Amino acid sequence: MLPSFYVRDIPIYGDAILSPMTGYSDVPYRAMCRAYGSAMNYTEFVPVEALLGKHNRFWTRLDRRPGEYPLTFQIFGNSAAKILEAAVRIEGELGPDIIDINMGCSTRQVSGRGAGVGMMRDPALVAETFAALSRHLRVPITAKMRLGWDEQINFMEIGRIAVENGAQLVALHGRTKEQKYGGRANWDAIAALKQALPVPVIGNGDVRQPSQIDEMKAYTGCDAVMIGRGAIGNPWIFARQRRTDLTVADLFAAVRRHAQEMADYHGEAFGLLQFRKHLKRYMAGMVELEAHLPALLQCKETAVFMHLLAEAEGELPPTLPLREAEPDAAEEELTCEV
Ligand SMILES: Cc1cc2nc3c(=O)[nH]c(=O)nc-3n(C[C@H](O)[C@H](O)[C@H](O)COP(=O)(O)O)c2cc1C
Repeated sequence: MLPSFYVRDIPIYGDAILSPMTGYSDVPYRAMCRAYGSAMNYTEFVPVEALLGKHNRFWTRLDRRPGEYPLTFQIFGNSAAKILEAAVRIEGELGPDIIDINMGCSTRQVSGRGAGVGMMRDPALVAETFAALSRHLRVPITAKMRLGWDEQINFMEIGRIAVENGAQLVALHGRTKEQKYGGRANWDAIAALKQALPVPVIGNGDVRQPSQIDEMKAYTGCDAVMIGRGAIGNPWIFARQRRTDLTVADLFAAVRRHAQEMADYHGEAFGLLQFRKHLKRYMAGMVELEAHLPALLQCKETAVFMHLLAEAEGELPPTLPLREAEPDAAEEELTCEV
């Protein structure tokens, strides 16, 4: 199989990539999505300030499984010097394959202090940051950004500046900071950026169905598609399978595996607690399972959880058709929590 594209000298096999999502794209979920075909993984984003002193809880966001390759470590900050210091440190201590600078987070806590999408308001900071990183790091540096802060849409300028200063790939979420996660993502902007930049461009925003991976690629010419909310409770999208192509057994096998991964990695009680939000999405649209959901969501022991799951599965006809999980209103409220 030939690589779909390269991040400088790192071959990427495949064209569908799990988005970085704090609270979701942890080691267990990345392993799930990789098994179904996500071509490259990103860690959850980490504030550079947390990487400068003693190790703390944020460092666990940079955990990786042996063999998880390539893995992009995503960091954010508002000072070129601190971003550089943090990047040099994690490059030396943890060996990332790629380091990505988040210029997309719209949360006030992040963007309000000039980090995340806040960086897009300061082109000089973008230039300084990427110039410093590409001068001092051995690994490729990439950028993930939005259309811009508000109506002042400057993704083209920021994309060019990042690349002129050494960025080896740019991912574009086709929304402004003001849009947060609402409205439609602008795929025309992704097409325009792809035309303009000499490095690979990843398109991002509103891909929910496997067919939309190819639609976005055909519409924009982008090298790969990044999938965020549409991949929650839906790792099959990376195998280009729709939920309606699955059997009840497929669904339960994935839930079992993911729950076990969560318990193994995070510990039983905390793992199952963290799994709740995933479980709701796995089961979305399945009215037949509604009665079982409350007990499953409250469960703190893996053995009991597996037992309840088997009971629920046993009550369903194996040939029951699965329905699509429609996006729910709560999704627009999801956000990158620091
Ligand atoms: C819960 C949540 C957490 C997120 N965390 C991050 C993050 O840590 N880093 C990042 O670059 N983007 C983050 N994002 C943004 C996504 O990577 C993606 O750009 C966005 O959700 C749009 O893609 P989608 O329409 O496929 O969901 C997050 C999004 C959500 C919903």
